[in-house]
Amino acid sequence: MTKVYIHYFSGTGNTKRAVDVISENLKQNNFDVHKLVIGKDRLVTMDNSALHIFAFSILSWSAPVLVKKYLRRLAAGRGAKAALFAVYAGDPGQALVDAQKILKNRQFDVFLSGGACYPNNWSQMTNPVPADEAKEALAAGDQTALDFSNSFIKGEAKQHPSFASGHLLTRIIAFFFALFGRRFLGKAYIVDSNCNHCGVCIKSCPVCTINMSGLIRKKPHWRFNCEDCARCINICPQKAIQVSMPKLIIHSLLLIAGIGACFPAAGFMSVMVPGVFRIAGWILGFAIALMAALWLQFVLLDRILFLLEQISPFQKFFQMNFTKNYNRYMAPGFKPEKLNQ
Ligand SMILES: Cc1cc2nc3c(=O)[nH]c(=O)nc-3n(C[C@H](O)[C@H](O)[C@H](O)COP(=O)(O)O)c2cc1C
Ligand code: SF4
Ligand code: SF4
Repeated sequence: MTKVYIHYFSGTGNTKRAVDVISENLKQNNFDVHKLVIGKDRLVTMDNSALHIFAFSILSWSAPVLVKKYLRRLAAGRGAKAALFAVYAGDPGQALVDAQKILKNRQFDVFLSGGACYPNNWSQMTNPVPADEAKEALAAGDQTALDFSNSFIKGEAKQHPSFASGHLLTRIIAFFFALFGRRFLGKAYIVDSNCNHCGVCIKSCPVCTINMSGLIRKKPHWRFNCEDCARCINICPQKAIQVSMPKLIIHSLLLIAGIGACFPAAGFMSVMVPGVFRIAGWILGFAIALMAALWLQFVLLDRILFLLEQISPFQKFFQMNFTKNYNRYMAPGFKPEKLNQ
């Protein structure tokens, strides 16, 4: 029996669903399938006679940061055959191209890449279709996943159509999303008065970036490392997680101001060092100023905002949001791994 490892990450269950379709088909065709959840499990020893499938959802035209880290840290594949599968709502951008590059560097032979369109889960910014109205889209996604698994079984060498485009603009956006965007979008989350402190959001976050915190009354607080996978906002049984408009605006303006302030700081640093080191001085100055600006904004100011959120005159102000009337989306039957324990 040929062994197949399916390494996957799923925020709200679409990728998990596709992985289940792929894995069932492989099992029926006598493959020995092992599933590994990226962010939770790890491949202990690399068996290069085994086949590998890497499946993940698309966040801002890219693979989630935790997926890219996982791929970079894999033991050398020494020629092991691999396939990539992206799950998205419209356009995977350069995600598959980039993931293939990382795997090539890890000595994997990526012979197949594919992807399926499933319902949108970005409830933070868009109003998703509820899962019970998404049956057709789910069935279409499942069919594409099944076709992909058939290609995998036959060993077909094929690349996803996204390999044909250049993706310059989406690549730039994805770069900034991975560096700042996902973190500051995480910082815009807030809980409204419907929160009953059940802790489901905390237990289900794949990167453990939510904790119960607060001087006056403990409530969920989003720290610095959000992937923006949309799991917490969609899983909350009370629909109590919202995107605070004031926090979104404050953090956006401060982020722009903070990055803007890095330029004069870098200029100052460059004139403080001898001529030949000017460029190095500028880069160092910029990096130091950026770290300081991010710390001030996402640690110090964030703490102050979180404290203000708990004081009644400010509570209503910070709870102004546009997500209260948005639907929430979870693939039917999906339970994140940590909640299964
Ligand atoms: C922050 C965020 C960014 C997203 N960016 C994209 C994107 O660039 N392209 C796309 O087609 N779908 C995008 N989506 C939609 C998801 O990729 C899509 O809903 C996917 O099916 C989710 O899979 P999952 O349930 O396994 O997490 C995004 C979703 C989120 C939460
Ligand atoms: S899941 Fe919802 S109700 Fe439960 S602690 Fe988190 S925000 Fe509050
Ligand atoms: S805080 Fe929410 S959106 Fe961010 S990584 Fe955790 S579950 Fe995903």
